[in-house]
Amino acid sequence: MTMQAASTEIASRTAAIIDEMKGLEGPLLPILHSIQEEFGYVPKDALPVIADGLNLSRAEVHGVVSFYHDFRAKPARRHVLKLCQAEACQSMGSDAVAAKVKQLLGIDFHETTRDGSVTLEPVYCLGLCACSPSAMLDGEVIGRLDDEKIEEIVAEVHS
Ligand code: FES
Repeated sequence: MTMQAASTEIASRTAAIIDEMKGLEGPLLPILHSIQEEFGYVPKDALPVIADGLNLSRAEVHGVVSFYHDFRAKPARRHVLKLCQAEACQSMGSDAVAAKVKQLLGIDFHETTRDGSVTLEPVYCLGLCACSPSAMLDGEVIGRLDDEKIEEIVAEVHS
């Protein structure tokens, strides 16, 4: 997609969200949240569309976006989380680990979260069988996965 096509696409998807939500009382924040959910961040190209749609100045919209730290100006860094599904890890509970990670992230293997922050993949032996069940996050191996480590990983990839 060219940059121009990407910004037209952002503008039209933003306009659709505004249409749907502008009847709400105090629509700016819910619209910004929906835009962030749609794109994974609040694109610069969405701001003038919001300003026009809500009869606000661009400076007002920009001010709100930068005031709330929840809104990202750029796409989240994409993480790749691989969970070992080979035999040694299987015997140490990798199925339960995978089920928990999938549930916390709301995705299955070979999928990416909606905000684009993490892709989940199975992997078959990371050479860390002695510390099963294991995983690899962005190229770094992590052994002896337990509930606490899983929660830490999920918090890190979603931050
Ligand atoms: S089987 Fe999982 S690291 Fe070897």
